[in-house]
Amino acid sequence: MKDFMKLASAAARQAGKILKEGLGKQRRIRYKGEINLVTEIDRKAEKVITKIIRARYPEHAIMVEEGEGKEGRSGYKWIIDPLDGTTNYAHGYPCFCSSIALEKDGEVILGVIYDPLRNEFFSAEKGKGAYLNGKRISVSSTRKLIRSFLATGFNYDVKTDQRNFKHFRNFVLSSQAVRRDGSAALDLCYLGLGRFDGFWELKLYPWDVAAGALIVKEARGRVTDFRGGKFSIYSDEILASNGRIHQEMMRVLQRSDG
Ligand code: IPD
Ligand code: CA
Ligand code: CA
Repeated sequence: MKDFMKLASAAARQAGKILKEGLGKQRRIRYKGEINLVTEIDRKAEKVITKIIRARYPEHAIMVEEGEGKEGRSGYKWIIDPLDGTTNYAHGYPCFCSSIALEKDGEVILGVIYDPLRNEFFSAEKGKGAYLNGKRISVSSTRKLIRSFLATGFNYDVKTDQRNFKHFRNFVLSSQAVRRDGSAALDLCYLGLGRFDGFWELKLYPWDVAAGALIVKEARGRVTDFRGGKFSIYSDEILASNGRIHQEMMRVLQRSDG
């Protein structure tokens, strides 16, 4: 696959270096909403990534979280979250990463996610498996929801849209435990690696899930909407699992009590 992986890897690692060096030092925090913030490091890391991609593929489209994206007719689109886990980052909580995906004609064909603190580099190319630091990874073999270790997150408008509280409660009662770690991209990597058995969330953006969902699929996991239908990075719902507990998770998500 051309040198896409080399380029994505270099960009994610350079962004990771910026995140690591800036940790605990960032001063300017801007609020995009009451609880949705952006640090100067988000912007710095994003600029580094887009500069690397634009220099090599000026004709490719780019979708970014913070700055200006770019349209293009090449069929290729880079989807970038320079810092997933911004709230964690701003508080020095060591759970964040950079995420870069490449879409070709509407399908994600490559994803990389880099956690600079643990030096964990996750990568996947469509049809070629998923990897952590170059070693093949695969999802867990947990078969029962009650034995499962799950993760989720809450959208920034949680104060007005509280739908996930119901699901959170129901999963806490029907699994081994549920974590809310604040980086959807890392949650998906950990699922691909078998640290988590399942993950669900509402209202994520394409840059939160594009790379991570491919990593889960290539690690032989399953990614759908809450009803088991086709997953789109542009949709409102993501349900990802090791496949074995997927039906049970769907049943919990479809329950209306809580
Ligand atoms: C957020 C994280 C978090 C999720 C939020 C996302 P950000 O991304 O992925 O886990 O619950 O919905 O927006 O703002 O840190 O890049
Ligand atoms: Ca994000
Ligand atoms: Ca972000």
